[in-house]
Amino acid sequence: DEPPAERAVPQAGQDGLVLLRRVGVVDPASLDDYRAHGGYTALRRAFELGPAGVIREVLDSGLVGRGGAAFPTGRKWQATASRPDRPKYLVCNADESEPGTFKDRVIMEGDPYALIEAMTIAGYAIGASRGYLYIRGEYPRALRRLEHAIATARARGFLGERVMGQDFSFDIEIRRGAGAYICGEETAIFNSIEGRRGEPRSKPPFPVEKGLFGKPTVVNNVETLVNVPVILTMGAEAYRAIGTGGSTGPKLFCVSGTVRRPGVYELPFGATLRDLLELAGGVPEGRTLRAVLLGGAAGAFVRGDELDIPLTFEGTRAAGATLGSGVVLVLDDSVELPGILLRIAEFFREESCGQCVPCRVGTVRQHEALNRLRANGRSPDGDIALLREVGQAMRDASICGLGQTAWNAIESAIDRLGVFNATQGVADGRESS
Ligand code: NAI
Ligand code: SF4
Repeated sequence: DEPPAERAVPQAGQDGLVLLRRVGVVDPASLDDYRAHGGYTALRRAFELGPAGVIREVLDSGLVGRGGAAFPTGRKWQATASRPDRPKYLVCNADESEPGTFKDRVIMEGDPYALIEAMTIAGYAIGASRGYLYIRGEYPRALRRLEHAIATARARGFLGERVMGQDFSFDIEIRRGAGAYICGEETAIFNSIEGRRGEPRSKPPFPVEKGLFGKPTVVNNVETLVNVPVILTMGAEAYRAIGTGGSTGPKLFCVSGTVRRPGVYELPFGATLRDLLELAGGVPEGRTLRAVLLGGAAGAFVRGDELDIPLTFEGTRAAGATLGSGVVLVLDDSVELPGILLRIAEFFREESCGQCVPCRVGTVRQHEALNRLRANGRSPDGDIALLREVGQAMRDASICGLGQTAWNAIESAIDRLGVFNATQGVADGRESS
């Protein structure tokens, strides 16, 4: 059975939290408890501001998507709101499948009404009367809590006809994924909801113009959405004061691997990787930090001596890494890196939908080459060259993010950590003696 979400939140109830402030504090089944802790004041404020005012606040806040791609949320909302076509849709991407990502689950299990309020605000701002919450099938507890919360909100006038007595109707339908990673890709979600095979569509057109059922659609990640009530409550200016100029607000980080206190941590953007690892207790006693995988399977490794990297979109980019959805996978010196790379390659091979050739074939070739490299212990030059060629082809010619990023982490392990470095004569990237 799943462990309770609260166990994954080491900071529950601590001062200074913004996104996690209610997790582990409120009863997730109680709408009254949610309201007693500030719930639904943001929706009331949204009605005062009007749809354009809400979008203005979100634009001014600098909020960008927390699913991994960091696209400005207000720009998506504005683009959809300005389209003449009707109806418009909101889709909440709760398919959280990036390996090492579990932040959205913590919110959905611990503070489900926050997501429902946030979706209602988004629907109001963009002119949608229906929202779809696409949740991964492996989150049964989150599903139960959200179903209960949606039914309660509907019964109490916070969803459905005339929300909170206003001239605005909005309701939420839950759809469950069935285990395919690719169904978290936004256009594959559309296909899945429409009853088709869960395969990505080519972009453009972007969903803001032509999304679910061919209509203008905003797709936002769970964490992105729950920032919105915070912005409306504290105001865009105060929100911008959290974090850095380029990455505003608070951020959830998913810390896992060989670390003493794995879990979800909330920090303002701009804290360093060192700050975060200290919060998580560092590596076990007697061990040395070897590397950290930032941004998940589609991300990049950084070395154990690069801990001063600021955890911002711009800071990680400047360091040749990525923040992605906030994955921080810690690896100490006991970890066999080629085995980790092989697992990543196997994951992409398994999860490629097979629709386009560079990814369908490339992920297989990548896995095979890594298998050979691991078995040989050092690099026959040909396999590294093959990996680079295949990786570049996948990056340049794949339809969606899966194929485009399937080589990222492996490339960074070879170039940055020296894994399979024949000249050093090491198989696992550790210094040879
Ligand atoms: P993307 O860069 O194609 O798009 C990001 C968002 O911005 C999308 O919603 C897209 O529709 C929108 N967008 C981009 N350009 C636009 C334009 N000109 N006008 C209007 N809207 C525009 O990235 P994608 O493929 O949606 O996501 C890739 C990210 O997802 C990666 O960073 C990856 O790490 C992350 N990811 C996260 C997972 C998770 O479980 N959280 C799972 C898998 C991947
Ligand atoms: Fe499918 Fe891979 Fe092509 Fe994406 S890149 S559409 S996952 S085959």
